[in-house]
Amino acid sequence: MPTSINRRNFIKASALTGAALSLHDPIKAFASPKKEKIRIGIIGSGFRSQEHIGNFCQRPDVEVVALADPQQRSINEAIAEIKKYNRPEPAIYKNGDYDYKNLLKRDDIDAVVICSPWEWHSIQAIDAMNAGKAVGVEVCGAIKLQECWDVVNTSEKTKMPLMMMENVCYRRDIMSVMNMVRKGMFGELLHVQGGYEHDLRGVLFNDGVTAYDSGVEFGKHAYSEAQWRTNHYVNRNGELYPTHGLGPVAVMLDVNKGNLLTRLSSVATKSKGLHRYIVNHPKGGPNHPNAKVNFKQGDIVTTQLQTANGETIVLTHDTSSPRPYNLGFRVQGTNGIWIDNHAGELNAGLIHFEDKSKHHSWENTEAYMKEHDHPLWKKYGKDAEGAGHGGMDFFVDHAFIECLKRGVEFPMDVYDYATWYSITPLSEKSIAESGQVQHIPDFTRGKWKNRKQNFALNDDY
Ligand SMILES: NC(=O)c1ccc[n+]([C@@H]2O[C@H](COP(=O)([O-])OP(=O)(O)OC[C@H]3O[C@@H](n4cnc5c(N)ncnc54)[C@H](O)[C@@H]3O)[C@@H](O)[C@H]2O)c1
Repeated sequence: MPTSINRRNFIKASALTGAALSLHDPIKAFASPKKEKIRIGIIGSGFRSQEHIGNFCQRPDVEVVALADPQQRSINEAIAEIKKYNRPEPAIYKNGDYDYKNLLKRDDIDAVVICSPWEWHSIQAIDAMNAGKAVGVEVCGAIKLQECWDVVNTSEKTKMPLMMMENVCYRRDIMSVMNMVRKGMFGELLHVQGGYEHDLRGVLFNDGVTAYDSGVEFGKHAYSEAQWRTNHYVNRNGELYPTHGLGPVAVMLDVNKGNLLTRLSSVATKSKGLHRYIVNHPKGGPNHPNAKVNFKQGDIVTTQLQTANGETIVLTHDTSSPRPYNLGFRVQGTNGIWIDNHAGELNAGLIHFEDKSKHHSWENTEAYMKEHDHPLWKKYGKDAEGAGHGGMDFFVDHAFIECLKRGVEFPMDVYDYATWYSITPLSEKSIAESGQVQHIPDFTRGKWKNRKQNFALNDDY
C-alpha cells in the first residue's frame, strides 16, 4: 500500500547525470539505445502510479507523456500530482480497459510503467513490448504460469527490455545487508527468509470513498485496491504477493545470475481473518452481505523454496491477521545471521557474526548498517528523502530511468519477473495438492549459469 507522500525537493541535476557508464559487465540481452530523456506512459494511474509520477516529475530527464486508466478519479489524482510539479498535462486514455492499447500506439513514448491490477500486468507488458516500448512492471505474482513464459518469449522475440520494479530490493537496511553478504561477512549463505507480513485488512475493505480503514466493502462498491485485490482472496489460495519477500533475498543469492530457484512447496492455514474483520467492523456485522463471503485464501501461506546452489528460502504471506508490519527477513550464512524486525529502521534488527560478536549473543544492527551502507544510499540518500516507502521508491525509479538512458540491462529483468511471478501459480498448485513439491521452470533456459550479477554494483543506479 502506498505510504503518505512527503515529497523531497527537486533532485540536483548533477546527481541525475550520474557517473560515467560503469565498467561492470551488463548482461546485454535486451537493452534500449542510449537516450538523454525518457518519455513515459503510465498504465493504471491509481495510488501506486502517483508515487512513480511524483518521482519522475522531479527529474529533468523524464517526461510523463500519457496516462491510461478507465477510472476518472484515478486520472484526476494523477493529473493533480503532475500539476504539483508544473509539468505539462499528459494525454489521457480512459475509454475502458483496452484504451491502453491506443496509448501504446504513440511514437513519443520510450517506456511504460504498469501499475494496474495484477490480472493485467502480463497482458499489458506483452502488448507494450510488441508495440516497441520498454516496460517497468509493478509487483505481484502471476495469475497463470504460462503468462510468465509468454512475457519472456515476447521480450526475447521483440528484444524489448522489462524491469521488475521491486522497490524493497532498495530498502536501506537490506542494501547494507546485501553489501555485507557481498563482502563475505556472512560466510557462505545457507538459508534466507522474507515475506509479506502486513495487516492489509484496512486496505482490502473500505467504504468506496476513503481508501483505508473506512468500511467493509470490496469490488465495485469499494475504492482503489479493495476494488480488485480482495477478489483474489475470494478465488485463490496461494503466495499472492511473493516479490517483496523474495526479490531482496533472490538478489543476495544471485538467482538467475549463477543460481536458480528449483523447487517449492506451499502450505496454507485456514481462512479466518477477513471474515472476522467484516463481522467485527462497526460498518459490518454478522448480517452484512460480505459476512457471507467465503474467502478461499488462507490467512498465512508458507512457501519453502530450494536453489540450485544448495540454499533454502522460506516465504510467508500474512496479510489478514492483526500484526504490525514486518517483512520478516532473515539471512543465515556459515559465519553469521541477520534478523529483521519492523520496517527497515537501521536499529530494529538483530545480527551476529561468529568472528566478531560475543559468543551466542545478538548485537543491535545499527552500527553495522551504517558502516556498510550501500554506495547508492550514501550518494542519493538525501535525494531519496520523502520518496515513498522510506525512500526506496526513489531508487527503483532511478534504476529504471538510468538503465534506459544508458542503454544497459535492467538490474531486475524479464527473467526475474517470470521467476518471481511464477511463485504465485506454483504455490496455488502446491497448496491444492496438499503441499506437493512443484518444479520451478528455468526461464533463462540455461543462461543463468553464465549471467553475471548486475544489481547495484556501485553508486550509479
Ligand atoms: N511496490 C509497492 O510498494 C506497491 C505498493 C502498492 C501497490 N503496488 C502495486 O501497484 C499496482 C497498483 O496498485 P495501486 O495501489 O495503485 O492500486 P489502485 O487500485 O489504486 O490503482 C490501480 C489502477 O488501475 C486502473 N485499471 C484497472 N484496469 C485497468 C486497465 N485495464 N488499464 C489501465 N488501468 C486499469 C484502476 O482504475 C486503478 O486506477 C498493483 O500491482 C499493486 O500490487 C505496489
